[in-house]
Amino acid sequence: MNEVEKCIRERRSTPRFKRVPVARELVERVIEAGLWAPSGMNKQSPIIVAVTNRKLRDELAEENRRIMGAPEGMDPFYGAPVVLVVLASASVPTRVYDGSATIENMLLAAQSLGLGGHWIHRAKEEFEEPRYKELLASLGVQGDYEGIGHVVIGYPDAEKSQPARKDGRVFWAE
Ligand SMILES: Cc1cc2nc3c(=O)[nH]c(=O)nc-3n(C[C@H](O)[C@H](O)[C@H](O)COP(=O)(O)O)c2cc1C
Repeated sequence: MNEVEKCIRERRSTPRFKRVPVARELVERVIEAGLWAPSGMNKQSPIIVAVTNRKLRDELAEENRRIMGAPEGMDPFYGAPVVLVVLASASVPTRVYDGSATIENMLLAAQSLGLGGHWIHRAKEEFEEPRYKELLASLGVQGDYEGIGHVVIGYPDAEKSQPARKDGRVFWAE
């Protein structure tokens, strides 16, 4: 197995993170990997909002929990200190695929840098809310963007499980 294959195999969702900050340089490298993802017609429609501000991170977590309908006090970001929100231009037909490729690139980059990561859903619902549309505007984002997903990153505080691969998912047509 080469390094990339190993990274793919060993990347698993982190179930709990330490409350330890991640150096900005590492966060930037994870983001950079996201920017290099493929995109339909090379439109590069996804954008990434890097949330490192603790208060905003906690507010977003609370919103995510509320949308999910999970019990109060549950942290849908598993304690991760950094939340990378991937959004993509609402006018691009491949936005969900483009954003998903961005997310996976960032998860793999996090793994390669010794960080844990976890893909978290419900960005679409979050960023339909006026409050988060205002946040985008305040950051200088122009145009209509749809939330695709979050990559939460940090240092793992728990063993990752290694779910077996299901059989019968490959069909060769030789
Ligand atoms: C589209 C998508 C949405 C996901 N949303 C969540 C989520 O909201 N919360 C969560 O805990 N995990 C979420 N996950 C992570 C999956 O639960 C996880 O990838 C799956 O259990 C397999 O585990 P692994 O990543 O360790 O292989 C999501 C994964 C994908 C691909």
